[in-house]
Amino acid sequence: MQYLHLISTANCPAHENLLLLALRSDLDLLKGALEPGEYLFLQKAAKKGVFACCFPRAERLVFVHLLEPSAADNALQWEKARQSGSQQLRDIRHYKVESVAVVSYCPHPMTLAFLEGLLLGSYQFLRHYSSPERQAAPPLQVRWVCDAPPAGAVEEMNALIEAVFLARDLVNEPHSHLNTTQLAEVTRAIAEQNSCRVEVLTLEELRKLGMGGLLAVSQASEMPPYFCILEWKPTNHRNQRPVVLVGKGVVYDTGGLSLKTPEAMESMKCDMAGAAAVLGAMCAIAKTRQPVHVIGLLPITDNKVGSRSLMPGDVIRMYSGTTVEVTNTDAEGRLILADALHYAKRYQPELVLDLATLTGAAVRALGSHAICYMGTAAPEVKRTFEESGMNTYERLVELPLWEEYGEDLKSSIADLKNMGHGPAGMISAGKFLEHFTDYPWLHLDIAGPAYLRASSGYRPKDGTGVGVRLLFDFLKRYGC
Ligand code: BES
Ligand code: ZN
Ligand code: ZN
Repeated sequence: MQYLHLISTANCPAHENLLLLALRSDLDLLKGALEPGEYLFLQKAAKKGVFACCFPRAERLVFVHLLEPSAADNALQWEKARQSGSQQLRDIRHYKVESVAVVSYCPHPMTLAFLEGLLLGSYQFLRHYSSPERQAAPPLQVRWVCDAPPAGAVEEMNALIEAVFLARDLVNEPHSHLNTTQLAEVTRAIAEQNSCRVEVLTLEELRKLGMGGLLAVSQASEMPPYFCILEWKPTNHRNQRPVVLVGKGVVYDTGGLSLKTPEAMESMKCDMAGAAAVLGAMCAIAKTRQPVHVIGLLPITDNKVGSRSLMPGDVIRMYSGTTVEVTNTDAEGRLILADALHYAKRYQPELVLDLATLTGAAVRALGSHAICYMGTAAPEVKRTFEESGMNTYERLVELPLWEEYGEDLKSSIADLKNMGHGPAGMISAGKFLEHFTDYPWLHLDIAGPAYLRASSGYRPKDGTGVGVRLLFDFLKRYGC
């Protein structure tokens, strides 16, 4: 795990490798830190459009990175700084250095974004190699030389990096190593470590409650379903009523009897990315003691095939009492989320956010660069939320919940069916979920950005941990 360490100027060792960071427009600030020949070289390089270089000196390496400022667009310049950070990490690793001290001449938000990209890019998932050390890039100590960092910024950065890596680890862990019981156990352990209250409802309790959606999805499995409830409630919380986060926790989605194709199934260990994001965000919130009352609800199951499988066409009774004709057992996410959304009503929440790898339609519509979202929260809440999307570059695109999109969810034998027929599958899913809410609510379909086929900047191949930074940014500012 890569963390950011903080040291003061006075304590920076004379022989430490250096990374000098400045805005392209402020090249002259580097004059004092570089030797005259180095500065001249840098000036020429920058003119040619080369903004990163390395000067080897006898006692240390000096890396220089020039960031692109933008007066017009903060979010974009921070994102570029993150991308620069992950690019710089590659250069640093190329030289096999073990530690580097970062001296920045940029405004703090730019420096922090650069460091964030560098740290996020350092993620590796190695535990299943028989000799992990052979696959691993050597550990790197990143120290920020700063005498007056913004209060809590370094602690917050480390809490966030840890939370994103946790979410990535959970998504990357294959079903052979993360079944429903294991996910519920990890959730409990991690919540307790971070002083969140946690309760795990087991099969018997779910049966008593009548969580028909969750029970139906899990009924073919030899592994029981769970329902985890996490709570962070500091004494100084700003919100009167809680914000509830719901995360889809399908540890593996075969599609059930409406079986997926091998190509579509291959990545389906990622189907608990919503639950991983909620757990990660709650950890970061609790670790940095944010003054906001948050509850996390994680319905956990797998979606398997067996002699007791749910049959396409079956009618089930949801926790809310609504009856649903399950025309497609692969549309399982909405069934378990619906029960969780109904459960959320008992908290009389101010706002409920659900995160789910819910539809292939979301992937086809937006690829991996955006999250589809929709819901009934007030326009101001949506705008703040979209701002968080830009701040973290986990960008959000709103889709409508117009009545017409719900029309094909009508069943001829039950209250609803679980699949529509139109091409706008992510909206049909949203309309289905809306039925189980009676509070301000937003639904995030993270199927596109949750799991990547190839790495992209500071986002690694496979699990990205999407949603953690977004939720954290939103909740940190919530009610301010
Ligand atoms: N878990 C899948 C959605 C998914 C697709 C996640 C691609 C990540 C990447 C979900 O349970 C599903 O199978 N949805 C179906 C719904 C359909 C049957 C109405 C889909 O989108 O194909
Ligand atoms: Zn499915
Ligand atoms: Zn699924």
